[in-house]
Amino acid sequence: MRKKVIAANWKMNGTLEQANSLLDAFASAPLTVNESKIAVFAVPAPYLMLAKEKLGGNPYLQVAAQNCYSKKSGAYTGEISVEILKSIGIDYVVLGHSERREYFSESNAFLADKVNICLEFGITPIFCCGEPLEIREAETQNTFVAKQLEESLFHLSAEEISKIIIAYEPIWAIGTGKTASNQQAQEMHESIRSVLAAKYGAKVANEIPILYGGSVKASSAVELFAQPDVDGGLVGGASLIADEFIKIINA
Ligand code: PGA
Repeated sequence: MRKKVIAANWKMNGTLEQANSLLDAFASAPLTVNESKIAVFAVPAPYLMLAKEKLGGNPYLQVAAQNCYSKKSGAYTGEISVEILKSIGIDYVVLGHSERREYFSESNAFLADKVNICLEFGITPIFCCGEPLEIREAETQNTFVAKQLEESLFHLSAEEISKIIIAYEPIWAIGTGKTASNQQAQEMHESIRSVLAAKYGAKVANEIPILYGGSVKASSAVELFAQPDVDGGLVGGASLIADEFIKIINA
């Protein structure tokens, strides 16, 4: 059985005071996390150790960085390496978020390098993919997303790709309040799984969690997560509201 993963993406939000109170709320809430369903919190880098400290008591609450660099160490001012992340106990990194692709020009090839170094250090990438509105309107979203996967992930062995979590985030649904319909999400997730199966076989494809992201709310989570190929969510805005995100985790 593949794992369910509910991931929070705080993006560049929250002061230390706010981070403290959100993390305290999550640490003390009754959450239905267990061996088959985990929650992952991608917090701003300065709060990574704080989040580890506050959530670390529960093995099913994990902490993720929102980005990392593709080199092990060196003269790359301002960047964060996986070696640094690993040394503070971080086991997950969000890679290739559409905001990184758009504002920081991260290409599929560059992301392939980041994926490689994460795997080398035993860090699980939460690899984001997803199409912009014009691609959706042209109805070429399946090929667009398949190309993102092929160019960033398909150099991996079956064993390596089994360690990846994929997050499908249609760009037109991020932060817009416009969620993909359950059917649109399921169709794309099924397409992603079939692309994975064609390359790696059904057994491998069936074990890879594919999360949906884009304006997920407590009110939409239950039905969305009930789709057969939707294995959880990557949640931005709603993960900054404690009660709302607790409901999403428990959905
Ligand atoms: P949103 O963000 O839930 O605010 O749409 C999702 C994301 O960008 O990961």
